[in-house]
Amino acid sequence: MKKICLILACVFSMLAPACANQFVNLTPLPKQMTVGEGQFRFSKSYTVGAALLPDSLQAEAVRFMDVIQETTGCKGKLSKSKKADIRMTVDKSIAYEGYRLSVTKKNVNISASSARGFFYAFQTLKKIMPANVMAELSVVDAQKVLPWFKTTKRPEIPCVEIDDEPRFWYRGFMLDCGRHFFTVDEIKHILDGLAIYKFNYFHWHLTEDQGWRFEVKKYPRLTTVGSVAPDCRMTDMKKGHYWLGKPYGPYFYTQEQCREIVDYARNLHIEVIPEIDMPGHIMAALAAYPEFSCNPEGEHKVQTFQGGVWSDVLNVGDPKAVQFARDVLTEVMDVFPGQYVHIGGDECPTSAWEGNAMCQEHLANLVKEGKVKDLGQDSKHRFRPLQSYFITQMYDHIKARGRKMILWNESVTAAGADLDLIKSTGATIFCWNPCQQGAAIAASLGLDAVISEWGPGCYYINRKQHDGEGEPVAAGNGGKNDQLPAVYAYKPVPDKVTNPEWKKHYVGVQATFWTEHVSDIKYCDYLAFPRLLAVAEAAWSPEEKKNFEDFRTRFTADTVLFDLTGRLYGKHFIAK
Ligand code: ACM
Repeated sequence: MKKICLILACVFSMLAPACANQFVNLTPLPKQMTVGEGQFRFSKSYTVGAALLPDSLQAEAVRFMDVIQETTGCKGKLSKSKKADIRMTVDKSIAYEGYRLSVTKKNVNISASSARGFFYAFQTLKKIMPANVMAELSVVDAQKVLPWFKTTKRPEIPCVEIDDEPRFWYRGFMLDCGRHFFTVDEIKHILDGLAIYKFNYFHWHLTEDQGWRFEVKKYPRLTTVGSVAPDCRMTDMKKGHYWLGKPYGPYFYTQEQCREIVDYARNLHIEVIPEIDMPGHIMAALAAYPEFSCNPEGEHKVQTFQGGVWSDVLNVGDPKAVQFARDVLTEVMDVFPGQYVHIGGDECPTSAWEGNAMCQEHLANLVKEGKVKDLGQDSKHRFRPLQSYFITQMYDHIKARGRKMILWNESVTAAGADLDLIKSTGATIFCWNPCQQGAAIAASLGLDAVISEWGPGCYYINRKQHDGEGEPVAAGNGGKNDQLPAVYAYKPVPDKVTNPEWKKHYVGVQATFWTEHVSDIKYCDYLAFPRLLAVAEAAWSPEEKKNFEDFRTRFTADTVLFDLTGRLYGKHFIAK
C-alpha cells in the first residue's frame, strides 16, 4: 500500500501545477540537471527540426516521433524550421555519447555531436515522461496492466536543463545463453531494458559446457549435437530446482537470428559482443567433435549439471583443434560486425594438457624456441603458458580482421600466465575474480579493464538478491554483499587507484548474468531488476552525485515501468 502511495505521489507530481520541486524520474542520473517550473506540452501535431540533418540523425528523431504517436497519439512532423517545437542542433564540442537538453514550456532544445548523443537525449525525454511512453504502450493499454495508471490529457515533459555524458564508455550486460537458452524475442526484451538505462554493450555468452548456441556452418555438429543436453536442471521460482527428465534442445541461434539481434541492438545503440569461451568451458563442442579434445577415444558429453569447472578442454597442442577455433571465430566475425570478440579464457584447468603427448611436445617446442616462459619441470603451473600462447594465436586471427579481443581476468591472474604474451595482444580484460587484482594487473600492463565484480558489491546480478525467507533458489546466499545497497555502493575504481596512467584503463563496468540457476526470462528479470539499475548508475553517473536514498525513490517509481513492460523485480528495497 505504501508503495502504491509513493508511486501515485510520483505520478501525480507529474500532473501537479508547475513547481520547481517536481519529481523528474531519471536513472541513471545525468551529469548535471536543473529542474525548472512547468512542463512542455505536446500538441496533437508538433514539429521536430530535423529535416535538414543527416539521415542518421533524422532516424533518431523519427524513432522518437513514432513512439510518441503510438503512446500518446500526438503526431510529429519533420521540419526545416529553426523554430520547431523540438529543435535539434549538432554541436561538435559535445562528447560522443553526450547531449544537452533544455525543456521549456515552449519548446525542447537538444544538442549533441552524434546520433548516439541524440538517441540518449530522446531516451531521457521518454524516461522523464509518464511511464507508458518508455513502455511503448498507449494509456488505454497501460491501464489494462495497471488500472490506476493515469496521465494528463496532453502529454508533457517536465521543464529541465540537462548537460549529460557518461562516466564510462563501456557499460555492459552479459547474458549466459549456454547453460540455459533464451529466445530471440527474450533477448530483444533484455535489449529494450538495457537501452532504457543507457547500456551500450550486450555481451552474449554463446557457448558453454552445457550447450553450444551459435550456428557454425563449417561444423554443423556443434549445433545438431552440441546444442542438446541429455537432461537439464531447471529452476522454478516457486518450486526451486527440478530435472527436466528429457533432452534440453536443440537450442541455438541461426546466423540469421544473430544478425537480427545485431540489427535490433544497433537501433538501440548497443553493440553485441559475442563470446565463444575457449579453451575451457567447451565440452559441448567436444561432445560434437571429440577429435579436438585431449582424449578423442574417451566419452564426451554435453554437461547436464549446471555449475562447475571441468578438465575436458580444447587440445591446444593439436594444430587441427587450433584451426577449428580459428574457423569458428571466422564465422563469428562474419556474423557480428562489432569491434570486439570475446574468447573467454576463464576457468581452464591444465590437467588434460599435462597428460597429452601433443601438448607436452608443443610446450617443449615453445620453450625451446623462446616463445613462452619456461616455468620449469617442478612448477605445477608449467602448462599454463600454453593457454597464453593459444590466446596469441586467436589474437592474430582476430587482429587480421581488424577486430579487438576480450578475455576474462584469468588470462592475467591465473598462476603461470605469460603476461608478456597477453600484453602483446592489447586485449581488454573483463575482471570478475579476483576482480580488482585483475584490473590492477591489466592496468599495469597497459590493458583496459572492465569491472564485473562477482564478490562484494556484486555485479554478478544472477546471484540471490536477498536472504529473506521464501527467496527463490539462486547462486549465493543473498547476504549483504549481494543486496541492492551493496551493489549501489560498490566503487568500480577504488579510491586507492590514483595513478592516472593506470586509472585511465578502468574503462567500464558490466552486470553479468549466469544462468546455472535461471531457466526462464521471468526469473532473469526478477534477479536483474533493480540491481541492473544500480550498475547503470555506476556506469553512467558521476560518482559524487550518487545517493542511495535518492536512487531508491527513482527505482521505486520505475516499478511502474517494470510492471508495464512485464518485468518481475525484487521488492526488498522499495521506498516505504
Ligand atoms: C566466470 O564467471 N567464470 C567468468
